[in-house]
Amino acid sequence: MKINGKHYHTIWVKEGDPKTIQIIDQRFLPFDFKTQDLRTLEDAYISIQEMWVRGAPLIGVTAAYGMYLGLVNLTDPSEDTIQNMAGYLASSRPTAVNLRFAIDLILDQIKKGNSLQEKIQIALDTANQLKADEIENCRLIGEHGLPFIEAIAKAKKGDTVNILTHCNAGWLACVDYGTATAPIYLAHEKGIKLHVWVDETRPRNQGARLTAYELEQHGVPHTVIADNTGGLLMQKGMVDLVIVGSDRTSANGDVANKIGTYLKALAAHDNHIPFYVALPLSTIDFTMDDGIKNIPIEQRSEDEVKYIEGWHNDEITRVRLTPENSPALNYGFDVTPAKYVTALITEKGVCKANKDEIGKLK
Ligand code: MRU
Repeated sequence: MKINGKHYHTIWVKEGDPKTIQIIDQRFLPFDFKTQDLRTLEDAYISIQEMWVRGAPLIGVTAAYGMYLGLVNLTDPSEDTIQNMAGYLASSRPTAVNLRFAIDLILDQIKKGNSLQEKIQIALDTANQLKADEIENCRLIGEHGLPFIEAIAKAKKGDTVNILTHCNAGWLACVDYGTATAPIYLAHEKGIKLHVWVDETRPRNQGARLTAYELEQHGVPHTVIADNTGGLLMQKGMVDLVIVGSDRTSANGDVANKIGTYLKALAAHDNHIPFYVALPLSTIDFTMDDGIKNIPIEQRSEDEVKYIEGWHNDEITRVRLTPENSPALNYGFDVTPAKYVTALITEKGVCKANKDEIGKLK
């Protein structure tokens, strides 16, 4: 997708230097556009843990390149060392299953290499392929999700379609196109009149900072709303459909996504508004049956709740919101029960959020 008219992916191999991976450093958006070089396994770990990159598909692709960087810098290529690298990287963030998916993919593929050199090359090829696959997955999610927007546009006889989204499941969370945003970008390109309600998504404000930035860069009409506004808009008939992404969806269709998603699903259900979840198969945890019970929910620093960042005097500034000694609690995700999900939109097509239908996608 484009930033100031130039096409970018969120992650790439540095031109002329294949031992360096470059990322868009999302900590500075939308105020400043910066890239970062990743050269080691530790760099990849920190970039995921500290959310220089974030969003389930991008976390997965970064982890794949992270394993490659780990191999490049390896002095002891024993099986134990490689497994330790994998365990270390997998501990960077717990909820997005794409992380483990990508690491396991690399572990599986490098078994085919006999020498360390061969393993390094296989890891790089596999990471590049995963990146390409995630781009294509998002493109296809767009194709499969588009008819839902087209149908509403038709029913509204060309009146603006109002879509609500939560957090950032846009191209910045992926490599290109995004998951929840892919049908939106496609519909916009096709000339369908649409408008996006962007939940600000406290505490890290991925909606206000990243989704709004993406949509603004692409000229998609949008409005940022406080997280608590969606229910009222739904009651007033100002939301036609909700599309969100997912960080992990269990085999029975329970959807872990950014904290606050569940409340939007409840409000959508109460107001008979379709609630879609757009995700690649790499986000489905086929080994897990009950997402509400079993999906690990990341808890992050209370400072993310107690402080807020903004742009002041030409720099990013952090200010405290709460009394100094008030404790805060910061769960990163919640789980929306499958019964509130109208459908899952994947690269392989659309399905109901239940075990039978999801099983057929495998
Ligand atoms: O904590 P983050 O920013 O990594 O959370 C990820 C998200 O942006 C969302 O939960 C998103 O909707 C799913 S990832 C496409």
